[in-house]
Amino acid sequence: MSTQPQTSIALDLEPREVEATLQPLERATMLPPRAFVDSGVFEWELETIFSGWICVGHVSRVAEPGSYLMREIGTDSVVVMGGEDGRPRAFLNVCRHRGARLIDEPEGSVRRRIQCPYHGWSYGLDGQLKATPHMEGVEDFDTSCWGLMPVRVATVGGLVLVDLSGEAPDVGDHAGELAGYLERYRVEALGRAGQTSYEVAANWKAIAENYSECLHCPGVHPELNRLSHYMSGEVLDGAGAWCGGSMTLTEGASTMGREGGHAHHRPPIDGLSGADLTSVLYFVLFPNTLVSLHPDYAMLHTLWPRSADRTDVVCEWFFEPATIAAQGFDPSDAIEFWDQVNREDWHVCELTAKGVRNRGYVAARQARLGRDRRRRRSQRTHGGRLPGAGRTLCPRAGASRAPRGRLHPRAPLLRRALRGQPLRLRRRPARRPRHPRARARAARPSLLDGRPQSLGAVR
Ligand code: FES
Ligand SMILES: [Fe+2]
Repeated sequence: MSTQPQTSIALDLEPREVEATLQPLERATMLPPRAFVDSGVFEWELETIFSGWICVGHVSRVAEPGSYLMREIGTDSVVVMGGEDGRPRAFLNVCRHRGARLIDEPEGSVRRRIQCPYHGWSYGLDGQLKATPHMEGVEDFDTSCWGLMPVRVATVGGLVLVDLSGEAPDVGDHAGELAGYLERYRVEALGRAGQTSYEVAANWKAIAENYSECLHCPGVHPELNRLSHYMSGEVLDGAGAWCGGSMTLTEGASTMGREGGHAHHRPPIDGLSGADLTSVLYFVLFPNTLVSLHPDYAMLHTLWPRSADRTDVVCEWFFEPATIAAQGFDPSDAIEFWDQVNREDWHVCELTAKGVRNRGYVAARQARLGRDRRRRRSQRTHGGRLPGAGRTLCPRAGASRAPRGRLHPRAPLLRRALRGQPLRLRRRPARRPRHPRARARAARPSLLDGRPQSLGAVR
């Protein structure tokens, strides 16, 4: 069934601000400050973006019958639960009787039934209504019509995704070539060895975009920058709603972790070889998923927007099952390292969240720094090959690829956000510019002048 909201919220941004964001990065501005603080924009994002494919977590959390993940997406709540047949199912987390929330913990397990804590209606792991106390004699009440409301669910490379709209494009197209990286690093087979949650006083886009750039690393993350130089690595490109890149470990480091990245002598993930043993790969899968692939472990962040300036973040660490089972296994070097880096990131994201509210702040230009330096380093570390060098637009997706350390990619998320979405921009009456050149510029036709249109057509 489709759970797509029937209403459509207009995006309260000036057409010219959006148009400027969608320019090639050399000419683009960042998103306007309102995109990070305005509750109307936030509501639009929930309805338009977060109704499509969203990663809720790792398949290992729903592998057993009755084991579940519960996530809140705006005012909706979704439960993904392992079925009797081993396949995960997803439902809206609402009892069909008086609408009580069924499951209130972010993860856990039930034995054979989901029982409502209010009047005791119970549902099977497939969502079918099984028992309805005190409903005997009620006319025209067919329990087969009152099961839990299903939500579209899929797994890709160990990630579990839900689609509240029921109408998002095929999940294979969504993940695209990212699926190949997840398979190479055996993300599906890895087991969880650590988890932590954060409340960040910043907009979800600011967190995702901060993750996508490393120009801040030397100042904000000195320990991280000692283990992988912020200009190292290369751009990764390919089909799908993601952007990503690699960073190269410095000599002597075998992973990202405390004590110089010596990995507590953990073996690498099975099957990795060559450059994978000296690199860390970073991906943003639009809109809420950050995946970091290390030689010996994977890290997954999922972002859960709560308001325009608040985001909950879940961070999890995954290792080879054999590594976890080995005597003396200790993941603390990796967990403590990234916990510190996470907190350093949240701090600057929160500073930005405060700063963009200042009345004088306007959308800035994109940084385009260090390109030549990055190319030189890359020639040393990757035999002169720099995939994606000089490429800022992906012709298939119409989205800019965000090389780590080279560009400050404010634009890609909005491109992704708006691509293919019916966009109704709220127009304000234009002020007549005073300067003749500004008047001439304002008189030029705009791509977004006129009727509501799909941004999928704007390139
Ligand atoms: S609300 Fe669930 S049984 Fe009444
Ligand atoms: Fe950072």
